[in-house]
Amino acid sequence: MGKKSKIPHQSNQVVRVLAIETSCDDTSVAIVDSSGFVHFMNSQNQDQVHAPYGGIIPELACRNHTMNLLPLVEEAFKKTQLSWSQIDGIAVTHKPGLLGSLLVGVTVAKTLAAVHGKPLIGVNHLEGHLYAPFLKDAQFDLNSDWEEPFIGLCVSGGHTSIVHVSKFGKYKTLGRTLDDAAGEAFDKFGKVLGLGYPAGRLIDDLAKKGNAQLFKFPRPLLKNTDLNFSFSGLKTAGSLKVKELSQTGEVKGQILNDLCASYQEAIADVLSYKLERAVKKIGVKKTVVTGGVASNSRLRLKMPKALFPPGRFCTDNAAMIGFVGAKKLQIGAVSGLNLKVEATAKNAEIES
Ligand code: KG4
Ligand code: ZN
Repeated sequence: MGKKSKIPHQSNQVVRVLAIETSCDDTSVAIVDSSGFVHFMNSQNQDQVHAPYGGIIPELACRNHTMNLLPLVEEAFKKTQLSWSQIDGIAVTHKPGLLGSLLVGVTVAKTLAAVHGKPLIGVNHLEGHLYAPFLKDAQFDLNSDWEEPFIGLCVSGGHTSIVHVSKFGKYKTLGRTLDDAAGEAFDKFGKVLGLGYPAGRLIDDLAKKGNAQLFKFPRPLLKNTDLNFSFSGLKTAGSLKVKELSQTGEVKGQILNDLCASYQEAIADVLSYKLERAVKKIGVKKTVVTGGVASNSRLRLKMPKALFPPGRFCTDNAAMIGFVGAKKLQIGAVSGLNLKVEATAKNAEIES
């Protein structure tokens, strides 16, 4: 079936991959070099599809991937004017994520790899997030060399973990959430406040006009010496406060802003404190913060030394998958057409 794939021989040769990310609800396609340069990236988010349910419906997510994915691949070639002969491999997220969603991306990637005779590279979604700050395009270049070691704080709707990256492919999870992810803490609070889904960005905006000291929310596990997180207690405290306030009237206006600011401050305090503790513990100074919650403006202010990607590379995107895929291709770490899809539970650790 199809053509035989060729794997580049020299590890320092710059390679270019087509990348596909469909691990959750965003369908994303990119063309990226092993230098981290993004030639093309476009994503189709499904926020409008899932908003009425207040969370992601897996069945709807994979159904929409099947509709959105191939048009994005077509667009990638059309916009860049690149041809298949200028693509060295196909990178795809194969874990962790929603099973049906992953299956759509991986099946399409396998088919394209077989038909066009390209090597297939399976990429761990979390590994992609960790390298996202080092992507560059016409608008953004951090100009920071991405030499390891560094410590990554990965915060999104599905995961919250601190990872020590000692070199490419060598990862140690130092801490993770014991219950909800940081993004979930934002989204569930948003649901109680009737702000729609996902609510992180809106809470961030409202919080800019609020007093972060007005309500005292718990800072879970702050006193613990380990690097784990827990957000379910904060979530409960948040809903109880909203319930209490709504007994005397609708929660809106300045009170809503103050609530958002105080709640966000509790999350930002815990995340920044734990990252600082990891730096002290491991003795590695370079830090990166990635994942959807890394778009948060307060978090960025509280961690001035950390490297943050721009918003488009924080949320789930194929560019980060392509960068890791291209780096793997350079060292010959390719997958077979029997690549396995692994949903695994949220907060799956990245293995070394
Ligand atoms: O990385 P992502 O796009 O998808 C997952 O892998 O989960 O992250 C989505 C999460 C959502 O929970 C959303 O509310 C949160 O990122 N988020 C934010 C902000 N923008 C997105 N949370 C706080 N502040 C923001 N500005
Ligand atoms: Zn993600």
